[in-house]
Amino acid sequence: MTARAENERIRVLLIDDDPEDYLITKGLLEDIHSQPFVLDWVDGYDAGLTAISQGTHDVFLVDYRLGARDGIQLLAEALTKNSSAAVILLTGQGQYEIDHLAIETGAADYLEKSRLDSILLERSIRHALLQKHYEAKLEANVAERTQELERLNENLKKESLERKKAVEALREADRRKDEFLATLAHELRNPLAPIRNALTIMRLKPDSPDAIERATGMIDRQVGHMVRLIDELMDISRITRNKLRLVPERLQISEVISAAIELSQPQIEKAKVTLSVQQYPTEVILSADRLRLAQVFSNLLDNAAKYTEPGGTITIGIEVLNRELAVSFRDTGIGIPAEQMPFLFELFTQIDRTLKRAQSGLGIGLAMAHRLVKMHSGALEATSGGLGQGSTFTVRLPLDTD
Ligand SMILES: Nc1ncnc2c1ncn2[C@@H]1O[C@H](COP(=O)(O)OP(=O)(O)OP(=O)(O)O)[C@@H](O)[C@H]1O
Ligand SMILES: [Mg+2]
Repeated sequence: MTARAENERIRVLLIDDDPEDYLITKGLLEDIHSQPFVLDWVDGYDAGLTAISQGTHDVFLVDYRLGARDGIQLLAEALTKNSSAAVILLTGQGQYEIDHLAIETGAADYLEKSRLDSILLERSIRHALLQKHYEAKLEANVAERTQELERLNENLKKESLERKKAVEALREADRRKDEFLATLAHELRNPLAPIRNALTIMRLKPDSPDAIERATGMIDRQVGHMVRLIDELMDISRITRNKLRLVPERLQISEVISAAIELSQPQIEKAKVTLSVQQYPTEVILSADRLRLAQVFSNLLDNAAKYTEPGGTITIGIEVLNRELAVSFRDTGIGIPAEQMPFLFELFTQIDRTLKRAQSGLGIGLAMAHRLVKMHSGALEATSGGLGQGSTFTVRLPLDTD
């Protein structure tokens, strides 16, 4: 027999304190044609327990009688050590109740020593091995399935958490919408009182050109304000429904900055703040929607003016970095608390409305600017040192590469 063949033979350990039994078993196994088994032998309970626990052999033949103790005890003790060895119990004549116990305890089979023959022994060993093989396979399947279930469970937990977050976000959006409706009603109602006053004046003083002039001026301004408000609303609704189409053209950034300053001039004057524009490269050409980009810049300028105390400053900076244009609007105003930063560009966000911080407006200016800049493949960023530390809003836009 070659060494290799020896390795492939099934290793059987006999645990039996009777040397004669070893010789008998050895003889039986040797009778088997093709010699598939190698037999070893230990003669005591403790050596047997160690061997079974460590799984030193493929199959263990355990004699029921082992000194003061017995094979079932040995099997039970080995099981407590997580053994999964294939064990066949060898019993004396007529020990039927032990046979039963052996199977219950986890033996693969039991054999009555006195009736043992080669064929029976071989069949029993092979059967025990096959049984262990299937048990192991089953265990592996169960382990795999358990793992799969755990994974599914983990995914379900994650999904449920995400759903909870989504519901929370929807609730928050809903709450902001309610708040927005109240603000909208307020903002639309506001101009009506001065308009009504103007009409009363016109009725009372139909012959005073001065009074008529002032009254019509007032009506004009208030109607203008309402038109702007409603236009803004229509714009944002178009943007959120993806109905707004940009009309891009090649233009100089200076033209857009001038247009925005012109749009925001009344706000800047009203706020009594100083506007300064830093030096910048004269030839910066980009592809953008002229009106929409001016609207973005003007929104940022309006905010800078609105949220800065009189006497403060707004600075516009323009930089070109790696084919990217950065236009920043820095103010010396009331600043933005860090915890509000994440919500700044969401629709209807107004910080500290209760503290009358939001002077007027609907809380849609920044959301609109953010979306319009995104539609230009750019990004809008905000930074602030915190309350009272001023704010900076930066619009980043890709520049034409040709
Ligand atoms: N430059 C700024 N400094 C401090 N706070 C700002 C500044 N810009 C915006 N904010 C804060 O962000 C909120 C959202 O701005 P946004 O422009 O969207 O709304 P609004 O100015 O209140 O109203 P609207 O622009 O619709 O007329 C403002 O209410 C304000 O609290
Ligand atoms: Mg605004």
